[in-house]
Amino acid sequence: MGRGYHVAIVGATGAVGLELLSILEERKFPVAQLSLLASKRSAGRRLVFAGQDYAVRELTEGSFAGVHFALFSVSSSISKAFGPIAAHAGAVVIDDSSAFRMDPDVPLVVTEVNPHALHRHRGIIAHPNCSTIPLVMVINPLHHRARVKRVVAATYQSVSGAGARAVAELDQQTRALIAGESAEASVFPHQIAFNCLPHIDAFGELGYTGEEWKMVRETQKILEDDSIRMSTTTVRVPVFRCHSEAVNIETERKITAQEVRQLLATAPGVSVIDDPEKSQYPMPHTAAGRDEVFVGRIREDPSHDRAINLWLVSDNLRKGAALNMVQIMELVGTESGR
Ligand SMILES: NC(=O)c1ccc[n+]([C@@H]2O[C@H](COP(=O)([O-])OP(=O)(O)OC[C@H]3O[C@@H](n4cnc5c(N)ncnc54)[C@H](OP(=O)(O)O)[C@@H]3O)[C@@H](O)[C@H]2O)c1
Repeated sequence: MGRGYHVAIVGATGAVGLELLSILEERKFPVAQLSLLASKRSAGRRLVFAGQDYAVRELTEGSFAGVHFALFSVSSSISKAFGPIAAHAGAVVIDDSSAFRMDPDVPLVVTEVNPHALHRHRGIIAHPNCSTIPLVMVINPLHHRARVKRVVAATYQSVSGAGARAVAELDQQTRALIAGESAEASVFPHQIAFNCLPHIDAFGELGYTGEEWKMVRETQKILEDDSIRMSTTTVRVPVFRCHSEAVNIETERKITAQEVRQLLATAPGVSVIDDPEKSQYPMPHTAAGRDEVFVGRIREDPSHDRAINLWLVSDNLRKGAALNMVQIMELVGTESGR
């Protein structure tokens, strides 16, 4: 094995898994050996990385011998079962399911916001929800400047956030309806084409969904501040890629829209597109395939003297998933001095 790392991707055939492959290649991460793992169904499927053909293998307890980094992008039940096995075998596990996010012993990291949390990892590092990541990247600089007290957010989440089968479902339903045929729903509880579903994850406490609570609790954990009050409404929309959020942020000290624009213009990983007169604002169509979190429509809230409204858009498969995972791996790899 040459200089570099043995990287395993668990869930390599999924929406995030395939994105991981292209980001590893794009960023020239030093991969010396690659293990592509998925369920028995996909065993034998061929995937290409850096011009080389790899066979997907079935995930088993023995999959992690010699692996330095295990990137898990599977359901939380599979992560819970196999993450500790991989860590025990000596791999650093970076998991993008909800399995370990709220475990107090597991750091939950957005590389631009709390990289310091990586120091206390004990083999497993959690990656936040794809709506939490762009939100904390935008809130964090405002929190430092003016102390964020309360956040109210509504999301407009693309179908790729629900995986490869959900992408296929929107595609099939759209074609069927345009052809005058009926639309079959199997991934989502209702037709998603030409529709919006205010329902992501299971309904729970106080009538909020699991996705809505994830945004609240993960934000508090990443910003290390449980006093930030939050309520969210998460909505699935018929967009293939990129999550958008309409966000109201109340601060302790007054901050103007112009100050927010300036702060966010220099925030790492954030890009401001805010010229409404010229119809310039972030959109899923223009943010797809991009690394940055885009912010626009920055306005003072006329109903409150210390609150800001803004609109953000981020590619859920990149910064919301694969990119942040690879960035975590880059930071840990640099520290290990390999
Ligand atoms: N999509 C996003 O934007 C996003 C963002 C952040 C976090 N996440 C999280 O990432 C995880 C994966 O999401 P995804 O969107 O990539 O889902 P997906 O497209 O449905 O992919 C799921 C992956 O899991 C594999 N898998 C299923 N059952 C398995 C088993 N028994 N053993 C091993 N592998 C198995 C699948 O392999 P087969 O091909 O063999 O079925 C596939 O590779 C989820 O926990 C999700 O919450 C997703």
